[in-house]
Amino acid sequence: MGIMAYFKDVIADAVKDARIAVELGVEHGESTRIILDSFDGELYSYDVQPPPDIEAPNWHFSDCGGVIGYERWGNKKIDFLFVDTDPHSYEQTYLWCLTWFKKLKVGGISLWHDTSLVRKGVNVRGALLDFAKYHKADLKFIDEDFGMGIMIRED
Ligand SMILES: C[S@@+](CC[C@H](N)C(=O)[O-])C[C@H]1O[C@@H](n2cnc3c(N)ncnc32)[C@H](O)[C@@H]1O
Repeated sequence: MGIMAYFKDVIADAVKDARIAVELGVEHGESTRIILDSFDGELYSYDVQPPPDIEAPNWHFSDCGGVIGYERWGNKKIDFLFVDTDPHSYEQTYLWCLTWFKKLKVGGISLWHDTSLVRKGVNVRGALLDFAKYHKADLKFIDEDFGMGIMIRED
């Protein structure tokens, strides 16, 4: 059983109606496969490493990373965002909130893996809590396993 298996149903339910989905952090492709198995929209995935061996006509992988990917994205709104990027720091997470989260349509769902791990240099949870204080976003956490943040755009 892989590290993402605990959240298979959570991911599947959140992405099922999406037409355009974005994933940050692919590595071996565990979350990628779950997303691709759970919807028939287009998935745009970003990492800074080469892609795993996944063939799907609706999978669009770029190895430019999430920052350059964002700069190239343009104005299209997205329906679903999945984030699981090393090093899972506060600063990196807040950057994804200020950039990719803002690309979500109102009502769009984002999932953030590893919210239960808080230690030096790792704090996805703290960044989401701070972001949700100052922006219209509905935030909750599932604390089992490594944790998952669920943040919905409200405006
Ligand atoms: C924990 S792994 C992702 C695991 C993957 N979600 C899965 O379920 O198999 C974290 C990944 O984040 C990637 N990463 C680090 N910085 C990144 C960035 N700026 N943009 C996109 N991916 C990044 C790393 O290369 C690594 O592959």
